[in-house]
Amino acid sequence: MLQGKVALVTGASRGIGAAIAAGLATHGARVVLCDLAAQRRHSEAVAAKIGDALVYDLDVTDKSAIEAVVNDVTAKCGSIDVLVNNAGILKPSRLEDLGEETWDAHFAVNAKGVLLMTNAVLPQMRARKNGRIINIASIAGRQGVPTQGHYAATKATVITLTRVYAQEVGEDGITVNAICPGIIATEMGRNNLGSEEAERYWAGVTALRRLGDPDDIVGPAAFFASELSGFVTGQALNVDGGIYFH
Ligand SMILES: NC(=O)c1ccc[n+]([C@@H]2O[C@H](COP(=O)([O-])OP(=O)(O)OC[C@H]3O[C@@H](n4cnc5c(N)ncnc54)[C@H](O)[C@@H]3O)[C@@H](O)[C@H]2O)c1
Repeated sequence: MLQGKVALVTGASRGIGAAIAAGLATHGARVVLCDLAAQRRHSEAVAAKIGDALVYDLDVTDKSAIEAVVNDVTAKCGSIDVLVNNAGILKPSRLEDLGEETWDAHFAVNAKGVLLMTNAVLPQMRARKNGRIINIASIAGRQGVPTQGHYAATKATVITLTRVYAQEVGEDGITVNAICPGIIATEMGRNNLGSEEAERYWAGVTALRRLGDPDDIVGPAAFFASELSGFVTGQALNVDGGIYFH
């Protein structure tokens, strides 16, 4: 499905990003794993399992580092056909107690990171008149919950960026779509829930009566990355086992 395509995934050393990278590789893509330098060991381990994968230390808030990585990948691989903006952070806090640094850090990684990464890959996608951009938002971006107001605001921003980019770049054959995961059993997901009781509760409110697994995000990501979704753009797809129905 993705033979001959190069897919760059941010935040790819673990969790949903690692699953998407491995999944896109299974579907034939050559994958480029990007994550913080501190995660290098984990990125290398994911790459070793995949086989033919490139690894870069990359902080998605660092514009010049992004440009250097995009240039290097393009020189080595010829193109970046698929960009998956997956890197994200969540540090829960009630809004009344939220420090400015926490607000700024969430917007820097979760929202500005999407802008910087996307703008860095668009010129070569426009030149080839083809490209796939996939933003990992969240059902939190549909409706905030207590202690996640700042995070939810960043994810609502990601959904808006998805819709606007889709309209601005569609003329060059580039699609931009978002995936809104529900509660996925990753480090972030489990930290967020905090207890087995909360995990049981959230599993219980899904139509499918379970939490998500990182691999549950792979199929939708492969769909948006492939030609199968060629006439789909500007969409935000809930992948939540049935929590939200709009
Ligand atoms: N787990 C869930 O329940 C859930 C639900 C909805 C959305 N999401 C979203 O899915 C994405 C992946 O989440 P996850 O659950 O796998 O989380 P995770 O914490 O397991 O992984 C996030 C990855 O992003 C990386 N990262 C953080 N800051 C970065 C930066 N500045 N530059 C580059 N990489 C950075 C981390 O090192 C980590 O590898 C995030 O955008 C998250 O908001 C997760």
